[in-house]
Amino acid sequence: MNEKSPISILFVCLGNICRSPMAEAVMSKLTEQSGLRDKIYIDSAGTSGYHQGELADSRMRHFGQIRGYQLLSRARQLEASDFEKFDYILGMDDSNITNILLLDHKDKFKNKIFKMTDFCSTSQADFVPDPYYGGTGGFENVIDILEDSCASLLDKIKQEHKI
Ligand code: 4NP
Repeated sequence: MNEKSPISILFVCLGNICRSPMAEAVMSKLTEQSGLRDKIYIDSAGTSGYHQGELADSRMRHFGQIRGYQLLSRARQLEASDFEKFDYILGMDDSNITNILLLDHKDKFKNKIFKMTDFCSTSQADFVPDPYYGGTGGFENVIDILEDSCASLLDKIKQEHKI
């Protein structure tokens, strides 16, 4: 990436159908609202390929829509080439971080890898809980945590890149 390339962010969870596509939608909206849409490239991926090619989970899309987010992405699996392509790689929980680091065979990209909740400013969450096997409250909780952490992450990126 040179200085003219967009800054790039990759959100990562296990299946790429609940948490990371939601993070992608929240951050896309925030960058649009800040007039930074063309400066920041945003994508998401799963550490597994279980749901490759699928739209986000219908429950995540439903609760996202209620909050004004449209989830349009299709699931894909994280690949080693993503480490070169992206400037910030955000895992949703410790297991995601472990699996991301396992793909970084030569330990070259550690400084790009963060846990999403490290950026929380109001939420006390230590990770973004997987809502897949739980009730509807889990999906709303995911959005609450992501709205908080994405806002702070965007502030950090704006400061770091003076944009
Ligand atoms: P996500 O949620 O990692 O937030 O997309 C999950 C989706 C699917 C499965 C697990 C977690 N699954 O086991 O199929």
